[in-house]
Amino acid sequence: MTTKTTHRNSNSTEKLAIDGGEKTIDQLGPFPTKIGKEELLEVLDLWQLSAGNMEKIRDIINSDPRLKGPHLFRYYNPRPSKVAAAEKAMKEWIGSSYCMATNSCTSALVAAYRSLGIGMGDEVIVPAYTFFATAATVAASNAIPVIVDVDDTLCMDARAAEKAITRRTKAIVPVHMRGAPAQMDALMEVANKHGIPVVEDVAQAAGGSFQGKMLGSIGKIGCFSFDYYKIIVSGEGGFYTTDNERLYTRALNWHDCAACWRPDRFGPEKENEDLFCGENYRMNELDGAVALAQIHKAGSILAGHRAAKQKIKDAIEKRNGLSFRRLTDAAGDTGICLILYLPDAGITQTILSALKAEGVPCGGIYDSKVRDWHTFNYWEHILQYKSVSPDRLPWSGVPQHELPKYTKDMCPKSLELLSRAILIDIDCHLQTEDCDKIAAAINKVLRAYL
Ligand SMILES: Cc1ncc(COP(=O)(O)O)c(C=O)c1O
Repeated sequence: MTTKTTHRNSNSTEKLAIDGGEKTIDQLGPFPTKIGKEELLEVLDLWQLSAGNMEKIRDIINSDPRLKGPHLFRYYNPRPSKVAAAEKAMKEWIGSSYCMATNSCTSALVAAYRSLGIGMGDEVIVPAYTFFATAATVAASNAIPVIVDVDDTLCMDARAAEKAITRRTKAIVPVHMRGAPAQMDALMEVANKHGIPVVEDVAQAAGGSFQGKMLGSIGKIGCFSFDYYKIIVSGEGGFYTTDNERLYTRALNWHDCAACWRPDRFGPEKENEDLFCGENYRMNELDGAVALAQIHKAGSILAGHRAAKQKIKDAIEKRNGLSFRRLTDAAGDTGICLILYLPDAGITQTILSALKAEGVPCGGIYDSKVRDWHTFNYWEHILQYKSVSPDRLPWSGVPQHELPKYTKDMCPKSLELLSRAILIDIDCHLQTEDCDKIAAAINKVLRAYL
């Protein structure tokens, strides 16, 4: 039998701490925190303060002996997490039971499909008009995107979605495009009739609603984007909302490289199939802090968009050949843009050029000569069954005769509508006189051509 003194050097006379002797190291340091003054100054530089003010702030920061750097990782944070606070604010705003922050909406979409158990051999229905990420994330989850037409709302057509359902369909993903709610009553009816979950892509419509329910709380899961071009932003960022605890648990696990359910990270599986290898989609504390402030500002931002849009729309003179994008619920529109329909693609391009020349903040939505990843016919990676690896997934996941036959003209109704549409950007800061000028310019051009 060995004892703890067996291998001790007999020349050593000092009593070890392990034997009750004096401990050699009480504490090390103090060390500065990993992230300190230099990083704070770099962040402040992003705000472009005047040189004089920046100098004053630099002096204050450099002379503060108590300055402590932040812990930008959301977990194990000694201070209350900004990301957790943003999740709580988002959950309360959207009215969902659970909310998970992610580093993008793309990540939230993958987490949505994965938490639903979607993978090889499954199909997910997406609209022909959306940013490519809605469909790309289906393929990146090893499933097959099935692309269907939009209607005059420029959101998914419920009848087209129903026609596309097969025994492989595992989700329907309406996108609330350009700030306005999709026809959620018809879409939910189709989905419920066939027992298929709905994932709402709310990337472009945070704060919108349909018949009194916030977008992102109607389907099984809502996915939001906070990238710079969205209604409220944190540079990069996203949120996943749901009322379903099990989906939330699985999404959390997927978004945190399988370090499931912090802080109980080594706990047993709550339910079968809760433990699996995931990825890392965590939001960091910088993005969380910005997102939190933006969620608190969302009400005034939306009020600005809505008021300006109403003023401009009301001031546009009625003309034969002019109509507006159909709103499924005007009260639920976020007001970020006004979409006009014109009689045909040719006159649309002419009027668009004239509006731009007048200084109207506007753009076309589809021009057959200009590449744009918002329309399906430019999604070559999907149309040509591209794959990242020799396994040819997701396309090898179903018998070849069951693969969708993608063509550049397979959703003609969508292309026809999009080619006749002009999008007027509505900034939330537009003042009455700005709105008057925009409406006057639109009227001037339409009078000349219609
Ligand atoms: C409809 C839609 N879905 C998803 C995304 C992806 O969002 P993110 O940039 O946060 O990944 C976008 C971004 O433009 C989008 O417009």
